[in-house]
Amino acid sequence: PLERKVDSVLKLMTLEEKVGQLNQYNGFWEITGPTPKEGQAAKKYADLKKGLVGSMLNVKGVKDVRALQKIAVEETRLGIPLIFGFDVIHGYKTISPIPLAESASWDMEAIKNSAAIAAEEAAAVGLNWTFAPMVDVARDARWGRVMEGAGEDPYLGSKIAVARIQGFQGDNLGATNTILACAKHFAGYAFAEAGRDYNTVDVSETVLQNTIFPPFKAAVDAGVRTFMNSFNELNGIPATGNAYLQRKILKEDWKFEGFVVSDWGSINEMINHGYAKDSKQAAEIAINAGSDMDMESSAYVDHLVALVNEGKVKEAIVDDAVKRILKVKFELGLFDDPYKYCDENRETTTVGKAEFQAGVLDMAKKSIVLLKNEKELLPLKKSGQKIVVIGALANDKTSPLGSWRIAADDETAVSVLEGMQKYPENQIVYKKGADVAVGRTQFIWETKINMTDKSEFADAIAAAKGADVVVMVLGEHGLQSGEGRSRADIGLPGVQQELLEEVYKVNPNIVLVLNNGRPLAIPWAAENIPAIVEAWQLGTQSGNAIAQVLYGDYNPSGKLPMTFPRNVGQLPLYYNHKNTGRPAMNEPESVFWSHYIDEKTTPLYPFGYGLSYSKFEYSDLKLSGASFAQAGSIKVSVKIKNTGKIAGKEVVQLYIRDLIGSVTRPVRELKGFEMIELNPNETKIVSFVIDENTIQYYTANSKWEAEVGDFNVFIGGSSAKTLEANFQYTN
Ligand code: IFM
Repeated sequence: PLERKVDSVLKLMTLEEKVGQLNQYNGFWEITGPTPKEGQAAKKYADLKKGLVGSMLNVKGVKDVRALQKIAVEETRLGIPLIFGFDVIHGYKTISPIPLAESASWDMEAIKNSAAIAAEEAAAVGLNWTFAPMVDVARDARWGRVMEGAGEDPYLGSKIAVARIQGFQGDNLGATNTILACAKHFAGYAFAEAGRDYNTVDVSETVLQNTIFPPFKAAVDAGVRTFMNSFNELNGIPATGNAYLQRKILKEDWKFEGFVVSDWGSINEMINHGYAKDSKQAAEIAINAGSDMDMESSAYVDHLVALVNEGKVKEAIVDDAVKRILKVKFELGLFDDPYKYCDENRETTTVGKAEFQAGVLDMAKKSIVLLKNEKELLPLKKSGQKIVVIGALANDKTSPLGSWRIAADDETAVSVLEGMQKYPENQIVYKKGADVAVGRTQFIWETKINMTDKSEFADAIAAAKGADVVVMVLGEHGLQSGEGRSRADIGLPGVQQELLEEVYKVNPNIVLVLNNGRPLAIPWAAENIPAIVEAWQLGTQSGNAIAQVLYGDYNPSGKLPMTFPRNVGQLPLYYNHKNTGRPAMNEPESVFWSHYIDEKTTPLYPFGYGLSYSKFEYSDLKLSGASFAQAGSIKVSVKIKNTGKIAGKEVVQLYIRDLIGSVTRPVRELKGFEMIELNPNETKIVSFVIDENTIQYYTANSKWEAEVGDFNVFIGGSSAKTLEANFQYTN
């Protein structure tokens, strides 16, 4: 019946009106792309009235959404409603942790809940479509957008993609508290050379299939309704004009039935790529390649009618794109009620709801990763202590909101200092020490970074001298990661490293609280500072979450979703690398092994790593047999005991290694995980089933299959620290 409804609308449409459905315009101001050129707003209004717009982005708030919807519905010939898209990346107004941080929770229910909160809030302001989740597997921390994804692993990334999609879309797209999700950026965007945003991507079929595609495939299987293509070229062909990606893989092989939106202006950017000579040719390439909707290039609306008339684009291709978009509009229920997301009362009562605060606080606590805790410095004692808090980020109510939170108001996060002050029986003294960024606004180019001023060092150092504990909140400002914010140096920005070392000289009892949107290279701190807490950018409730973890009211359980390097020169660095013919070692017997002469090959903190205030001991790794064959399986189990003094949660991780492959295989690959909770002295047995699905990969036969042979299996609390056993897969 849905198809019939779609066809009945399509039948009424002129070619111009069809093309109009494929056209998406930005609102009339700059938010997530370049400022509209002069005169553009007038053209947009005119096109809207002519029925030449199918969707708008960056229009928010019931009043504005309603006004534009009214034009589409009441002033155009067919009255087809618009859909309204927005980058609801980690919350709309109530901000949850950046996606990379949430991913550190390894807690799918919490992640799903966080996306559901974002959806409810966004839907209440008139929106029905988010450009999230970003499911790009990312291995290079220089790339600013690692903050927006789930880290480096395709398995974890797939699970998180599904959780986020379920959270945004719920199980009823017609409801007014859910929104469409969008899996982006298809594909390869995170593999930009040298981690520089928008740069060239050249990767093998093996990497594409085994590493980059899995979360996208999982997104399709989870019912995601939209995809966004990507700015980058992939092996010489821009993703936007890439028929292999969009037609062959996505629509043919994976049977994706939703629609693909281009990235901002990415159709026209094919001219810069050197792939299209002008906007008209770019439109021809993009639509034929399977890009259904044009975001902000005006290429379709300007040229598609002529291209069809000239026979360069078949009308059936346009029809297919239109049908995909109309179908989603029907699913949202917009044809029944185009104003269903426009309820002023719901807007007022929903945005910033108290229960949302509880949800994002819960997510924030779960996102924190304890990296180091010597001398039992943590948890902090709750009374009788003089605690000196140092760092501009400790007193910052904007930075914790992170990047990509375009509807949030500055200064609305709980700062670390405010969080700490909720424990009044300690004396808290605050000193800035040094700035991280000043003049901050939504946009980093209006923000000064790499501060050099050390004039407030002395004051901070003097205060630190007499303290029981010094809490130093250092790292990146929330706007130092995100789109267009690649870094060539991923240490602590500005003079913060120096500040840390100076304070350490007078008082080594330092708890370093890191705020950052990407893994940082902090080898000196890892070596010298006794306690390190990875607190990312945790959103609106940031300071409360951090204080509760520092004081032990929440026992940290996060695990890194991305490797922390020792040195930016090691990048890309990831746990599931190949072995090579001369395997990496830190101290090889001769020069002729894969290594650096001036740096170790191992990470500072590996993927999957994270401590707790509890202690977990792994033992008794057991397999139910020595081998299994097709359609069979094998059970692997391990015993975990909490040998610590308090109850805690642990993410038990299963990895395998396929020893010989028709294509060489990674040294280990995550294949399962389970979060357990243990009281002191309690023991639990966790087991996983390994079957054909577990060991399948994209082989030299160009298909997903399991190959017979020997495997290692590893279980532990990180990718580096595991128990090991072996099994065979036989015919
Ligand atoms: O959704 C984003 C995309 O990720 C990057 N370019 C702009 C889009 C819309 O704002």
